[in-house]
Amino acid sequence: MNTTALEQRYRAREARGFLRRLLEPPALFVMNPREPTDFPLGRWNLYIGGAGRSVAGYVNLDLFPMPGVDLAADAEQLPFASATFQRVECDAVLEHVRDPYRVAGELCRVLAPGGYLHLVTPFCHPFHEYPRDYRRFTPDGLKELVPGLEVVAEGWRTGPTATLLVFVLEYAKCLLPWRWWRVGAHFTLGWLLFPLRYLDLLLLRTSRAGRIGNHCYLWLRKANG
Ligand SMILES: C[S@@+](CC[C@H](N)C(=O)[O-])C[C@H]1O[C@@H](n2cnc3c(N)ncnc32)[C@H](O)[C@@H]1O
Repeated sequence: MNTTALEQRYRAREARGFLRRLLEPPALFVMNPREPTDFPLGRWNLYIGGAGRSVAGYVNLDLFPMPGVDLAADAEQLPFASATFQRVECDAVLEHVRDPYRVAGELCRVLAPGGYLHLVTPFCHPFHEYPRDYRRFTPDGLKELVPGLEVVAEGWRTGPTATLLVFVLEYAKCLLPWRWWRVGAHFTLGWLLFPLRYLDLLLLRTSRAGRIGNHCYLWLRKANG
């Protein structure tokens, strides 16, 4: 997808009418309630890739100067001094960057000593371009990107049922040749399938969840001094 098409997609999302928002089915996933989220924020915190989102308490950096974005820049070359941020969020971005090692190096560089970095990436998830889609990650693959940081928590944020449901929906759309049929499938299947998402509350408790987990996460800490 080229960048203009992506910007158009963001603008269309913003402009979606009241009726469409009312009818929009709930997400096909639930977040793992066992993922810890209470790591401290500091005076300065960085959110990577939050186009179209309001992220209170963070500097929101994205490739595109969209609503909610404080700074348009490439995460491969962050325009900040080293050791600036207490907390850095990088959620569903690393699969979209050309060089994830370089981005991870930049995230570690701008993280303050004692600060926390949160990485979330898809493992089993359909192709989705923002503005490109280069790869998928396992938890071990993510750790390879940040060898200098201590892993303080790791796991699956969304589980096997989320994987199954998003693939069923994508498969159905593959079968439908016309856009309006795919829109219809999005709404009807979305509403029909979403109650199954709660199965992940059970499955995420098992050690097998990661075999076809949807998104994995790491919380990492930079050593003091
Ligand atoms: C899948 S979206 C993630 C959105 C958000 N984190 C969320 O969970 O809803 C990926 C975002 O990363 C941004 N992005 C992709 N490559 C980037 C890069 N090299 N530097 C900064 N942002 C980038 C895209 O523009 C897009 O807004």
